[in-house]
Amino acid sequence: MIVLATVADLRRQVAAWRAEGHRVALVPTMGALHEGHLALVRRARELAARVVVSIFVNPTQFGPNEDFAAYPRRHDADAQMLEATGAHGLYLPPLQAMYPEGFATTVSVAGVSEGLCGEVRPGHFAGVATVVTKLFLQAAPDVAVFGEKDYQQLQVIRRLVADLDIPLEVVGLPTVRDADGLALSSRNAYLTAAERTVASALPATLKAVAARLAAGGAVAEQLAWGREALLKAGFQSVDYLELRAAGDLAPQERLDRPARLLVAARLGKARLLDNIEVS
Ligand code: PAF
Repeated sequence: MIVLATVADLRRQVAAWRAEGHRVALVPTMGALHEGHLALVRRARELAARVVVSIFVNPTQFGPNEDFAAYPRRHDADAQMLEATGAHGLYLPPLQAMYPEGFATTVSVAGVSEGLCGEVRPGHFAGVATVVTKLFLQAAPDVAVFGEKDYQQLQVIRRLVADLDIPLEVVGLPTVRDADGLALSSRNAYLTAAERTVASALPATLKAVAARLAAGGAVAEQLAWGREALLKAGFQSVDYLELRAAGDLAPQERLDRPARLLVAARLGKARLLDNIEVS
């Protein structure tokens, strides 16, 4: 696996792979890799002959009181996992390469960025959209692979790729879960052992609310039931539990189209996200 630190090296490597006739996939990450990321890399390997993974903890997607400084950074362990999973390139740009002196551009996606995490974390999706656009322009991949765990992020990225005519395919992969259903996340590392036990209530509650909705339960009533269930299970607060249209994330007052149930809730130092399909 080749480690690349500059945009010029990345471009040269991708151009060389392409000259050899290979399709190239990009898997953007912030590191602290787990099985969920490795599933993205495996899928990317099925979609392209060469896979480059980026690791960059992007400061512009963190709010002033969020966990940018505390976000786990373990590049050596990450590199070993990627090598063992068969990634061909690891792009590790320094801060200066992504945001050089004088950087002044923001990519902002209206509509799908609004509400949910966009409301709780103002500016978050502009930070994501900006860095992902840069990564797409730097690596120029044929395909980019993201997890559905960050479902709103995935819709923001799909929108920006369509709107800006970026010539690549965006592939979303179902969430990888622990045995008790908890979605894998780098931020699960913030949970104490006791909190980790409580955390399993998040996927369990999503499943229960989805089943109640599928059985014809009124949306507002079932969402209120779900919020209450999470607080009773031990979550400190629920940022949101909402039913949204699967594609454009429009709020749904009744279940009459493919929909997604999305949740964010706080437990100790962690803010946990999850979502499932409701049909
Ligand atoms: O999902 C993530 O890890 C990040 O938001 C991403 C897409 C790598 C952008 O920094």
